[in-house]
Amino acid sequence: MNERCSSPWRRARVTLNANALSDNLNRVRSFASGCQVMAVIKANAYGHGMLQAAEQLAQADLFAVAMPEEAFALRASGCTKPLLVLHGFSNTAELEKFSELNIASVIHQHQQLKSLLAHRLSVPIDAWIKVDTGMHRLGISPDDVDAYFGQLRNSANTGKVYIMSHFANADDTDNSLNNIQLESFLKVTNDIDVDCSMANSAAVMRLPKSHFEVVRPGIMLYGSSPFSAVTAAELGLRAVMQFESELIDIKPVKAGEAIGYGSTYVAENDIMMGVVAAGYGDGYPRHAGNATPVWVNDRCCDLLGRVSMDSICIDLTGVAASIGDRVVLWGDELSVDAVASACDTIAYELLCNAGAAYFSCRE
Ligand SMILES: Cc1ncc(COP(=O)(O)O)c(C=O)c1O
Repeated sequence: MNERCSSPWRRARVTLNANALSDNLNRVRSFASGCQVMAVIKANAYGHGMLQAAEQLAQADLFAVAMPEEAFALRASGCTKPLLVLHGFSNTAELEKFSELNIASVIHQHQQLKSLLAHRLSVPIDAWIKVDTGMHRLGISPDDVDAYFGQLRNSANTGKVYIMSHFANADDTDNSLNNIQLESFLKVTNDIDVDCSMANSAAVMRLPKSHFEVVRPGIMLYGSSPFSAVTAAELGLRAVMQFESELIDIKPVKAGEAIGYGSTYVAENDIMMGVVAAGYGDGYPRHAGNATPVWVNDRCCDLLGRVSMDSICIDLTGVAASIGDRVVLWGDELSVDAVASACDTIAYELLCNAGAAYFSCRE
């Protein structure tokens, strides 16, 4: 994994630190030793390029993706690792392909159960029963787990059967729903001899009782902290994505003058402004507001005014900088979490969008 962008001449560029990705996987293991790690590489590995991320995460035990097409692309690329599709199959054509390619499916609703039991598969698939313990997104009622498990376990169409659930608020360690969900999960799985999975990144790091046999980290692999009050560095995580560009102009702006589209920023004093060659066309968030941090020459500078398609303006007052200087939008020097927080969003979104401007799922 290294720098890949459409042209070596492109100024706004995303590079990926392959070693950081494997270091973060080791960090998962240090939090959840003895567990199998299912690395979540959906949404093009959170913008990092799914196929390359899969190669770099060769030490993971399993991979999870959201959609069948992602699993098919992984198999087409030669990936032989156990794969789980979190949304499961939605028709018999997909089910047959899961069987053909040895892809496991989440079973989160009745139609999938019926279809899997009714079909005659040449090769059985592993099934992960997803139980809704309180998030109220995908998943069957806890009351139905026994019946699903019994039927799937007795079907010739299924190999191994697992039970899983997903936390709604694991990033908020004190949230009472965490324990309610865990209790609900334990209640329906305690009497069943089955391998279980519940923990996303936040739960890997803060809810050890939810580790069970398989943990399912996503965001921590990419070096971002799921917690608003704890930095990735404090958690021992390293940034994988480095998003950089360069200064293409530096000029004075007088007090009272406005900057950019909509004239949303008006200089209070005389300032020195820099223009950076990166905008929403490069995956930088358009809704980033004034004072979003941008890193130039060891200094944190403020974004000024609206983000344009291919440029942003920043405050370089008092900063020693020249045209052509490197600018870090996020990465080692400036965490994506700090930028996300200033933009009132989450790192997941910024990483996915920046990656989408560079990496295709089907390289
Ligand atoms: C079912 C499921 N498990 C695990 C994860 C990984 O979560 P995180 O990236 O917060 O670790 C996700 C991500 O949204 C998910 O949907």
